[in-house]
Amino acid sequence: MRGLPASCYLDATRAPLEYSAIFAPSWQFVCHVSDLPASGTAVRFDCSARSAVVLRTKAGGLQGFRNACRHRGARLVDGDVHTGLAFCIDGRLRCPYHGWTYDESGALVGIPAGQHFDEFDADAHSLHPLHVAQWRGLVFVAFQAPRLALEQMLDAVAGAWPDLTSLRRVIEPRATPCAADWKLACEHMLDTAHFDIARPVLKPRLFAPVMFEWGEGDALRATAEVATAGPGDTWSSRVYRQLLRDRQSIPARAEHVFLWPNLLLQLAPDGLSILQVLPGATGQSTFRELRYAGLDSSREMRLLRYTHQRVRRQALAADTRMLARVQQGMVALGADETGPIASGEVGLRWFVERCRARLPGAVPAPSTLATRSRSRRRTVPSAAT
Ligand code: FES
Repeated sequence: MRGLPASCYLDATRAPLEYSAIFAPSWQFVCHVSDLPASGTAVRFDCSARSAVVLRTKAGGLQGFRNACRHRGARLVDGDVHTGLAFCIDGRLRCPYHGWTYDESGALVGIPAGQHFDEFDADAHSLHPLHVAQWRGLVFVAFQAPRLALEQMLDAVAGAWPDLTSLRRVIEPRATPCAADWKLACEHMLDTAHFDIARPVLKPRLFAPVMFEWGEGDALRATAEVATAGPGDTWSSRVYRQLLRDRQSIPARAEHVFLWPNLLLQLAPDGLSILQVLPGATGQSTFRELRYAGLDSSREMRLLRYTHQRVRRQALAADTRMLARVQQGMVALGADETGPIASGEVGLRWFVERCRARLPGAVPAPSTLATRSRSRRRTVPSAAT
């Protein structure tokens, strides 16, 4: 199997197609239910230049809307730059531009005096509703009708996970710019071959490389045992692993789920880590990172969370550096050049297969590329020998 051609990571004209074929009908993680604690709280979530707002209703439910006023399109809600958290007053959203007001069902309920429109139908100017779903305390939104129910997708790979509703945020959500296309960033999260090789700094590691199990659905799973000592170790990684081994009441392993197209969940003994790749301008993306944990505030657990976060920060810094190199390399390659994907790279193969299936015609047929590469085939000795 071969990867996507270089042009797929470089061509600005693909963005609208990727939005309509991939992002719009997919479930996008917004927040944890604890981030919307009461009626009147809202979270803004942006993806592919679209903005959504999810708010808690007076009845305790969740409603999602396009974050755009039906008058002249102004953004309704400005969430906090890190958390997306915002507040609506008494369940009402008031546009900051000309003052149109919507209730928590999205209905237009107020227009300031003095604004008159010919043959105006207020019912035709409600906010555009979005699909909102929860899975064990995690809140997702979809900009268009999703291909599959969220529960169906996640239960298939994480049915044994505990209820996550009682978790609470342990760090402020973080957005890290990445100078690489979102597909490269996702492929990197699924790639296992770079762990022991990528330089100049080997990533510290808490768990063994994540080897995803093949699946036909839109989510993959993997279990990783605590890692052994390695050359990339730091003080934090050594302390974390030792604490886990000492604390025998909790399993020294982490469960992983990758949800198509851009979300990695890691359930470790000290909490849930979420890494989401958001597309940006050509050759740009953003890693959105969030962490939630249980109520155990013992010294050991706090140290586990602290060291885990340090390692994640170091690893993400190494990842973004490497991804910038790969993106630059794609520019140097020919537009239709591809590289082979090793047979053991299950997650990477799964991701590329889905990109080809969801973007028919936008990705050159593999058969054409295979024919081209066969003429150059030769045996390469293993570097390990
Ligand atoms: S754009 Fe919102 S009230 Fe005018």
